[in-house]
Amino acid sequence: MDSNLKKIITECPKAELHYHIDCISPELFWKFSQRNGIELPIKTLRDAIDFYNFQTLDEFLTIMLTAISSIQTENDFSDMVMDCANDMVTQNIIYREVMFDYTACYGHRGVSLNTVINGFAEGLKLAKKRYENIDIRFIANLDRTASVIDNCNYINKLIKFREEIPLIAVGMDMQEIGHPAHKQADAFALAKEYGFKLTGHVGEVVGPEGIWDALQSIPLDRIDHGVRAVEDDELLKLLAEKQILLTLCPASNISLGVYSSWWEFPIKKLMNSKVKVCINSDDPPCFHYDLTGNLIKIAETFDLSTSEVIELIRNSFIFNFAGNEHLSNVDAWLDKNIAI
Ligand code: ADE
Ligand code: ZN
Repeated sequence: MDSNLKKIITECPKAELHYHIDCISPELFWKFSQRNGIELPIKTLRDAIDFYNFQTLDEFLTIMLTAISSIQTENDFSDMVMDCANDMVTQNIIYREVMFDYTACYGHRGVSLNTVINGFAEGLKLAKKRYENIDIRFIANLDRTASVIDNCNYINKLIKFREEIPLIAVGMDMQEIGHPAHKQADAFALAKEYGFKLTGHVGEVVGPEGIWDALQSIPLDRIDHGVRAVEDDELLKLLAEKQILLTLCPASNISLGVYSSWWEFPIKKLMNSKVKVCINSDDPPCFHYDLTGNLIKIAETFDLSTSEVIELIRNSFIFNFAGNEHLSNVDAWLDKNIAI
């Protein structure tokens, strides 16, 4: 690939808007299993690495939740934030919105919300001490397979933790098939009343009908994945008009069989339809491409121009939930380093 483009992708300050902190690396899975003395189907670090092996969204979620069952203490949650911060610095990511799903990943095992949030808060404190220039915010994902009443109760509990960590949005994840977004409409309405931004996983494994269903029942500010909007021209028009950003995750979609190769990933049609998109890693320990890796692979596969790559990078700053306070850093870097 063009060395100038590679330099932009690797060295330009970046933001990432779709990243699940719950999906821990095999190294953390191994470390937490040892530290917490839990019986798990792994005996070595090699086993932990080999454990991440799946074909479908259901298989992936089951494996991810098993690894997550090694996470127990405040110390573990703090280590997860530090791992995230180290990775940001390695990739020149200056801003990341980090998702966590308390209900699916922790609550059902009796890990308290206090433990999770205190651990995240401690991790943030340590990360800020080690690194000056990183900004991490949190998105509380609702488990779409839980009842809407339980999710409303969860949101009511969550708000008191807004002082502890920068909690900016409510999202929604887990199995999309059989769990349409509209079932969570009341929970999202409550989240909006509390002033949270709204996002949610739709149009990942379900087609455009899943996105229509969400947009008709929930005032989403962004859509996670949403890639299958590409199958419906009417929907593409609406997304472009309303400037609802899709947080695309190409490596994730290919790993989970939404597309059978990088060539099939519909980035060109989405961008040509003027739909706002940005690139993300989703669960990098499982999908093996971080944000930089996803951007490089997409730019290479589709022979993206410099301005297309810059558009993808800038969109993550323009459409983030904290306002575009970091955009000037990116533009300053581009002014200095790119001769246009
Ligand atoms: N949780 C973590 N990654 C996810 C994905 N790709 N889809 C739904 N839920 C998830
Ligand atoms: Zn996701």
